[in-house]
Amino acid sequence: MAGGSTAGTQPVTPDVTHSAVSWLRGRVRPGSLTRMSRLLIVHHTPSPNLQAMFEATLAGATDPEIEDVEVVRRPALAATPADVLAADGYLLGTPANLGYMSGALKVFFDVVYYPCLDATKGRPFGLYVHGDNDTTGAVRGVEAIVKGLGWRKVAEHVLVAGPPGKEALEACRELGATVAANLA
Ligand SMILES: Cc1cc2nc3c(=O)[nH]c(=O)nc-3n(C[C@H](O)[C@H](O)[C@H](O)COP(=O)(O)O)c2cc1C
Repeated sequence: MAGGSTAGTQPVTPDVTHSAVSWLRGRVRPGSLTRMSRLLIVHHTPSPNLQAMFEATLAGATDPEIEDVEVVRRPALAATPADVLAADGYLLGTPANLGYMSGALKVFFDVVYYPCLDATKGRPFGLYVHGDNDTTGAVRGVEAIVKGLGWRKVAEHVLVAGPPGKEALEACRELGATVAANLA
């Protein structure tokens, strides 16, 4: 109708900010609207042996054959609830200390548990633990907490006593790849 109101036919301006568009561009493949999945590695790495396990796990998680998975890593004491909420799955790495997980990984759980409890149920996780001789208590501690969070175990834990040899590092690599593949 000539002269009528056009209020209902105005083009709709997307309600997104420039920074949100930039963020989205970084998360999608060119030519695709598929959202990248994100894998968060939370680790406490106080020694060369744990560094080797971390690097092998990271190498598996970033295997070029696994597409559409972005890997973010955080030292346990630097990881935040926002990191956990923004991820789709988790890899956890810790030494066994005094019959439990490291204090650093426990602090991580203390910080993120309630803020992330509702939103992260059912998400996949994997775990590696390094100790001198007995990782039982560390595994039990982590399992109790992730059970509370409702995270889903998608790979066998990698438990290493003493210097990690070729086989142990291959197991770490496999762990990283398996958890990442569960997100792709
Ligand atoms: C205070 C302390 C407590 C530890 N408790 C345990 C333990 O309960 N079980 C175990 O297997 N290793 C234990 N360890 C050994 C650490 O797990 C080990 O030092 C860590 O995984 C790093 O390994 P690396 O020093 O051989 O590189 C402990 C180490 C320290 C310093």
